[in-house]
Amino acid sequence: MIRSVVRGFGSALPKQVVTNKELESRVETSDEWIVQRTGIKQRYLAGEGETTASLGAAAAQAALDNAGLTVADIDVIICATSTPDNTFPATAVNIQARLGMTHGFAFDVQAVCTGFVYAVTTADAYIRGGLAKRALVIGAETFSRILDWTDRTTCVLFGDGAGALVLEAQEGQGLTADRGVLSAKLRSDGSHKDKLYVDGGPSTTGTVGHLRMEGREVFKHAVGMITDVIEESFASSGLSSEQVNWLVPHQANLRIIDGAAKKLNIPMEKVVVTVDQHGNTSAASIPLALATAAGDGRIRKGDLVLLEAMGGGFTWGAVLLRW
Ligand SMILES: CC(C)(COP(=O)(O)OP(=O)(O)OC[C@H]1O[C@@H](n2cnc3c(N)ncnc32)[C@H](O)[C@@H]1OP(=O)(O)O)[C@@H](O)C(=O)NCCC(=O)NCCS
Repeated sequence: MIRSVVRGFGSALPKQVVTNKELESRVETSDEWIVQRTGIKQRYLAGEGETTASLGAAAAQAALDNAGLTVADIDVIICATSTPDNTFPATAVNIQARLGMTHGFAFDVQAVCTGFVYAVTTADAYIRGGLAKRALVIGAETFSRILDWTDRTTCVLFGDGAGALVLEAQEGQGLTADRGVLSAKLRSDGSHKDKLYVDGGPSTTGTVGHLRMEGREVFKHAVGMITDVIEESFASSGLSSEQVNWLVPHQANLRIIDGAAKKLNIPMEKVVVTVDQHGNTSAASIPLALATAAGDGRIRKGDLVLLEAMGGGFTWGAVLLRW
């Protein structure tokens, strides 16, 4: 059977690093409060000329270089983002143009912080369905541009960046020892909208709007939703948490990551944590963490990697893949 195998990875961050200390001059907060509640120490913020598409294109090019491929080898670009350069065209199409690719097709996926999990699942379905042989799957965000910089309860949590994978169709045996995506589970429940949303949009206010969040409410649901969907992935694949080499969670908050790992019995030594460095980069956080841990040699060929995320909507999901 056809499997969608990771052939390359890449990432890109804005030039400007902003520490918690530096945020103290913008809003009434402290390094101590932010670290204690979230684990975040710094984040990267997009400056002039840096956009979701520019960061996404840089991450995509890095993934192509890592794979030893060019755009000529790619059939589809899928970009997960909630902070597109324009309402339309899709950021993926913008990235396609920046990469100099005029064949194939490109489109965006919007599932907020679960975006990359949705995008990998979508790419896997296209590859297994025979619609594409190779996919560039990107998570790219500039959340700094939709933050209310006077609201200390949200503006300290997020950052900007992008990450990408090249997924390639390869023949597998249909076993869990195969390389590639082994299981993908997606969920959403729109009744939770008011807990995490953006208060604007083309069809309502005609403006972009700002991110609004009831932090405690999100926190309350996060661990349960994440672990439920992971348990479903284990049940349907026949794999278990002991077999996981690396948990690569969405990087929103160290306490949520810690809580999920504990509930799943996965020791923190097997968890990739980048939230301290990047903050919450929404759909970009998982591919940024993957590029970090694959780049420094922690994630190796053959490792069982568990991706999970939860975000606005609510949306949530998990992917099990063998690297
Ligand atoms: C946002 C979050 C860190 C807040 O932590 P919390 O322990 O729930 O804190 P609370 O909201 O109860 O606020 C506690 C106090 O800190 C204050 N506070 C809020 N933000 C602050 C900041 N940046 N700096 C200093 N104090 C702050 C609050 O005003 C409140 O003060 P009060 O008690 O005088 O009213 C936490 O709720 C959280 O992590 N939620 C999940 C958010 C998330 O990950 N979202 C993305 C999902 S994809």
